[in-house]
Amino acid sequence: MNILEIKNLEVSVKTIDGNVKILRDVNLSIGENEVVGLVGESGCGKTMTARSIMKLLPENTKIDKGEIFLQGEDIVKKDEREMRKIRGGKISMIFQEPSSYLNPVFTVGSQIEEAVKGIRDKRERRERVYKILEEVGLDRSIYFRYPHQLSGGMQQRVMIGMALVNNPSLLIADEPTTALDITTAHMIIELLKKLMNSHRVSILFITHDISLSVYFSHRIAVMYGGKIVEISHSSEIFKNPLHPYTERLIACLPERYRKGEKIKAIEGEVPDFKSLPPGCPFNPRCPYKMKICEEREPEERKVGKSIVRCFKYGNTVEN
Ligand SMILES: Nc1ncnc2c1ncn2[C@@H]1O[C@H](COP(=O)(O)OP(=O)(O)OP(=O)(O)O)[C@@H](O)[C@H]1O
Ligand code: SF4
Ligand SMILES: [Mg+2]
Repeated sequence: MNILEIKNLEVSVKTIDGNVKILRDVNLSIGENEVVGLVGESGCGKTMTARSIMKLLPENTKIDKGEIFLQGEDIVKKDEREMRKIRGGKISMIFQEPSSYLNPVFTVGSQIEEAVKGIRDKRERRERVYKILEEVGLDRSIYFRYPHQLSGGMQQRVMIGMALVNNPSLLIADEPTTALDITTAHMIIELLKKLMNSHRVSILFITHDISLSVYFSHRIAVMYGGKIVEISHSSEIFKNPLHPYTERLIACLPERYRKGEKIKAIEGEVPDFKSLPPGCPFNPRCPYKMKICEEREPEERKVGKSIVRCFKYGNTVEN
């Protein structure tokens, strides 16, 4: 059974101009012990997808449609009391800025201990925290430190420890390395790789960096304008990107990832959700645009083992 299965998810935001759809027909699954990368430019809906799974959407936002199955149970139907048990239990999340999520007036150890579920005995709880500190590569003396006494990388290790302390089935990592220098970022990814195996946790890894995603993830979901436009295996996506947007994301990577080619910028603007163009949302930026692309939105289509939304590959769902 898949750990996570998102089906036809739609999320909208209330604005002074009325309701605006942010996520549209999002379909995504994550298998056991699988890492799925969610990539795309700023504002495409990555964090909204993550917040939908946690049911921690901003107040002016709501899930209009769809299902989010976590180990077979639809969490869209769960109330806040049930969600509080699930968050930090079956699903947990780490973020870009660990310092914003750690309380400056409590020691990091006491904050991890607070997150421990299901252990009443104080000594046992403390031992659990020491163990997780060790697993994330921190000495047990870190228990007594305050967040400001730790580097950004150490703070992110504490957040990872807190997220994994109850052995969740799914970890959502939203740009966990973006605020870190490249060496520290690399160490955090290596740590996540190690913990993914020892904790047998599945990961939704959110980043705008497709090369980092390919390095860490088994499959990659590419998001554009609130829709997933391609899902491909990491080993395939660089060799054979299907969606023109994926193609451009790869073409824009620094040269070290693509020997002998120059960096290109993706022409055109990131779409504004209030005024998406008719048809395919990528059409104003797409070099392959056809007449149909301005008339209709492409459906999901299976191409080999990938899924893509683009009229280059026909216009019907193929099962
Ligand atoms: N509370 C809100 N009210 C109105 N619009 C919002 C709100 N939160 C997010 N949005 C809009 O929803 C869209 C998707 O935002 P989201 O945060 O999911 O993007 P993202 O892909 O995570 O981007 P980034 O890479 O910058 O983190 C954006 O256009 C954003 O402006
Ligand atoms: S559907 Fe048309 S406009 Fe959209 S990405 Fe494909 S070719 Fe380009
Ligand atoms: Mg985001």
